[in-house]
Amino acid sequence: MTNQCVSLMSKVMLSIGIFSGASGVLADSADDSISRGKQVYSQQCAACHQQKGQGIPGSFPPQKEHTADLFNANGGIGGRDYLAHVLQYGLTGSIEVEGTSYNGNMPAWGGSLSNQQIADVLNYVLTAFGNRERLSRAFQPYTADEIDSVSGKDLSGKQVYQLRQAVVGNQGRSSGPTASQEAPAVSATATVSLDQAMPQPVYAAVQKSGVVERLPSKSTWPGVKGAHYDALSPDGRRLIVSGFKTGNVYIMDTDNGDIQASIAIGEVAQGVKVSPDGRYGLAVAPTQGIVAVIDMKSLSLVKKIPVGKTPHNLIFSKDGSLAYVTLQGEGALAVVNMTKLSKQRTIPTPGLDSPHNIDISEDGRRLWIRDFIGHVGVLDLDSEKVLKVFKVGAGHGGIDVIPNSRYVATGAISASRVTVIDADSLTVVANLEVGTGPHGVRASADGRYLYTSVTADNLIAIIDLKSLQVVHQVPVDGKFPFWVAVPGNP
Ligand code: HEC
Repeated sequence: MTNQCVSLMSKVMLSIGIFSGASGVLADSADDSISRGKQVYSQQCAACHQQKGQGIPGSFPPQKEHTADLFNANGGIGGRDYLAHVLQYGLTGSIEVEGTSYNGNMPAWGGSLSNQQIADVLNYVLTAFGNRERLSRAFQPYTADEIDSVSGKDLSGKQVYQLRQAVVGNQGRSSGPTASQEAPAVSATATVSLDQAMPQPVYAAVQKSGVVERLPSKSTWPGVKGAHYDALSPDGRRLIVSGFKTGNVYIMDTDNGDIQASIAIGEVAQGVKVSPDGRYGLAVAPTQGIVAVIDMKSLSLVKKIPVGKTPHNLIFSKDGSLAYVTLQGEGALAVVNMTKLSKQRTIPTPGLDSPHNIDISEDGRRLWIRDFIGHVGVLDLDSEKVLKVFKVGAGHGGIDVIPNSRYVATGAISASRVTVIDADSLTVVANLEVGTGPHGVRASADGRYLYTSVTADNLIAIIDLKSLQVVHQVPVDGKFPFWVAVPGNP
């Protein structure tokens, strides 16, 4: 729908009084809210629910027409309140929409969008995609105050799922008792002790609580607001951590968690890495389309390298002379020359429209790329061709080429599984249930254990890569563990 069209539609609604009394602030008309909401939608929602709201069958439910039906529903807390809850707290469980099943995990937005932005995006969705015509009652736009009134309850996605059951009753899903719809139970055979499974420390960046936790000793280090991605220096003595929404990059001492520097690079900071020689830290600022170069001696920002549209994360070549940066907004990688500290060129990644996270094979000849919506691709650096694209769990996730192993592993934030791929035969060897919303994946340097940050269950799941079984689930001290850093496996 065009802007003009949205604005025309809301004018019509205004004139028939639907939006009357919508907002205490006169300047903030329903028009303004809807057009801001459109921006929020294309930046935050469209990657999954698609630009026209049509969704991806089996992975992401449609917003088209469906959201109005949810709004109209009368059971439980009512459709209007239900939608506010879904946006605040996310949703986890098996649902059915127009005959198609989804068993995913919608991220919570309470921590990353403001109340106003949540109100705006709901106002947009409910007046776009054929929803407006289906609303069964007068629509008063959501306000920031209304969203605020449902906040602070600290619900899980599974609890919102319970609310949904009452709201939509039998029109929402097919069959089966609620209990069986919960994330599959994980049989954690505790034959391996935690100390055995974590021979070296694992550093979890716990985003919503703004801490880094060192395991297995369970030291929790505060002061890292929005702790998002983290990476270790090659000597293991420093940790570089990105602040989601703060746009800061923090450098921490791995002995005691002291924050040695906090460097502003932009409004959001994404992937971080330290160069193999330990000289530079790189951090991605997606909205500016740059990679920030931090001198790891003076702990200062030395340069911002323009790389392209919506960069996300990066990996160094084995000799450290190049950095490969994923361009989520371009369907390509940027190649950065680390001597000149400038972008050299772009490598397209056909079959992967939104390259997100990335790792490199041990021989340095192949790049393994995880996209934003549910694929992994392997790119041969000699021919610069994508050799194969695998369908993996829905949503975005980390990717790790396991050291001393044939395996590559990836998470899936909108699902509950880690997919393991055999890099020699180029086949999927396992899909392991680990809990809801696994994102970060990193293996121990010896390649024996894989650590996965399970965002919605607030734990680190440990997979034994020999038996391909989950052997431990370690709760973290805080909410939304997003990423893990492991010594010897950058
Ligand atoms: C990472 C992918 C992803 C993103 C980004 C995302 N969603 Fe979702 N969303 C999902 C999934 C998956 C579900 C279904 C969850 C389930 O199966 O329980 C869902 C469910 C929903 C529902 C509830 C549908 C129902 O039938 O109850 C609404 C409403 C919704 N999303 C709106 C949004 C809006 C608005 C945004 C942007 C602020 C957004 N989503 C961003 C993946 C996503």
